[in-house]
Amino acid sequence: MCGIIGYVGHRSASKILTDGLKCLEYRGYDSVGIAVLNGQNLEIRKDKGMVADVSSGSRFDSLSGSIGIGHSRWATHGGVSKENSHPHSDCTGSIAIIHNGVIENYQELKSSLLSKGHKFASQTDSEVVSHLFEENLKQFPTPLIAFSKTISALEGSYAIVLLSKSSPDVLFLARKNSPLVVGKGAGENFCASDFSALLTYTREFLVLEDSQIATIDRDSIALYDLLLTPKTPSFLTIDWDVQTAERSGHPHFMIKEILEQPDVVSAAFSADVSQVLPLLEKFEKIHIIASGTSYHAGLLFSILLNKYKSGKFANVFIASEYQNQVLPDSNALIFAISQSGETADVLQALRYSTSPHKVCITNTQGSSITRLCSHSIYLNAGPESSVAATKTFLAQLCVIYKLLFGDRYRDSIRSTILASTKHSAKIQEFSKSIITNRFIFFLSRGLCLPLGFEGSLKLKEISYLHSQAYPAGELKHGTLSLIEKGVCALFLAPKTPDATKLFGNLKEVKARGGTIFTLTDDPSFKSESDMSLDIVPQTDPLLYPFSFVVPLQLLAYYSSVSLGINPDRPRNLAKSVTVE
Ligand code: F6R
Repeated sequence: MCGIIGYVGHRSASKILTDGLKCLEYRGYDSVGIAVLNGQNLEIRKDKGMVADVSSGSRFDSLSGSIGIGHSRWATHGGVSKENSHPHSDCTGSIAIIHNGVIENYQELKSSLLSKGHKFASQTDSEVVSHLFEENLKQFPTPLIAFSKTISALEGSYAIVLLSKSSPDVLFLARKNSPLVVGKGAGENFCASDFSALLTYTREFLVLEDSQIATIDRDSIALYDLLLTPKTPSFLTIDWDVQTAERSGHPHFMIKEILEQPDVVSAAFSADVSQVLPLLEKFEKIHIIASGTSYHAGLLFSILLNKYKSGKFANVFIASEYQNQVLPDSNALIFAISQSGETADVLQALRYSTSPHKVCITNTQGSSITRLCSHSIYLNAGPESSVAATKTFLAQLCVIYKLLFGDRYRDSIRSTILASTKHSAKIQEFSKSIITNRFIFFLSRGLCLPLGFEGSLKLKEISYLHSQAYPAGELKHGTLSLIEKGVCALFLAPKTPDATKLFGNLKEVKARGGTIFTLTDDPSFKSESDMSLDIVPQTDPLLYPFSFVVPLQLLAYYSSVSLGINPDRPRNLAKSVTVE
């Protein structure tokens, strides 16, 4: 969840670290810090707050030196405070470390270090790493051996970068269950928790694998396993360009990412699914695993498989519950959907599964999920910087339709998405009425059910309005008791054969005084609504889910903006959720 950046080369480290931390802001954080080494002078500056404020308040720019590390923290162990911000140091101020993940045995390590006289400055689990390295430096002949001994003692998950006066030209890196990449430059090298922070400098990346250690100096990159056996690094080239990772004149990443979705359709349909189609043909039992927005894509996938592909028995699981709901099953074909490819809940579910056939659908090359799966399908959606997933959700749906129906619907989907992006002004107006409600239900049925869930999640995520999605027919089994004057229900009402039942559900809400909003192409819904948006193009019933993708994203976006919230950085949330 936190962000990591490291630099060694010939330029000012503080500038590169500060710029990198700005690029990583989208991940969500509450404090930031950097450490820069200049000869034997190691300086750490850090505080709680945003990059712009902390970097200017603590004068990051006054640190000279061309090797350093930077970190944005999302608090887990220990509150949000200056002391708990990274980098952390040792007792002598000779070492600085940054860490993402959770050191599960930190209490045990800390007690042992305290008994040896170490003094801790924070409540974090991370600080044990710098003190343990300090201790190991006394015992082992080289800093690299001391580092490998330190890493070998850790349990849990980590991406760690360490800077030490003992090796003033080298950054030490280690990774387990938390992403860390090395960016290769000329006369300079970089590391980061994800590619996007480094795209200005390089496209050539080495993705560290679990239980690997690396050292980088300005001219070389060396890779080892935990026993320090050298490994040959293999680099991959990332073709995302910097512009796609910038806002390009839009007020927020989210609106930029919503509006670029017509191109996302074409890119997602170019995904290579050829290796996976035979598996999909062969397996009867299919388990789909995902979290959040990706779960909603998975829900539509499972409905389509069960209803439109005979002989398939598909189940979709919320990743964090997978282990609680099934025994490991080697006869199931697994689909894991995760745009980041780093969601800890999904990774853990994949580790639990004993199936040899695991397919991931992800946007991130080299991500952890690709290592746990036998097959990878890439979304090709380009970098998504807004915390709320938008274009990657659409890309997931496109890949799912490609898997099930080939390219048959590509052009219609693209036209629907393009048409929806033109309705911004109407939806902005609509959102003004939505945000006056204290409670908003999203009600839908059939193939549009997952879209109701997604619309509701997006709205609550970035506008903080209380919202809940329900299968419309389920309301009468309990939740209808909440409907009264002042409660609002938004119906996703395409003109499908199921429309009569949904219409009945609308009447139930209306009869109890609820305010009715509809997104519909059906005149009968329109006439019963307090407010209705006729922006749903009539289409093949199979494609109606696509009619709602952009309108619901825009509704959430404009609600958030009208309420004075920054939709790109909703409170308490992070883009890549690397803890369980
Ligand atoms: C909501 C959102 C989250 C993610 C969830 C899974 O807008 O972005 O609900 O969908 O955290 O993330 P990935 O797809 O990276 O596994």
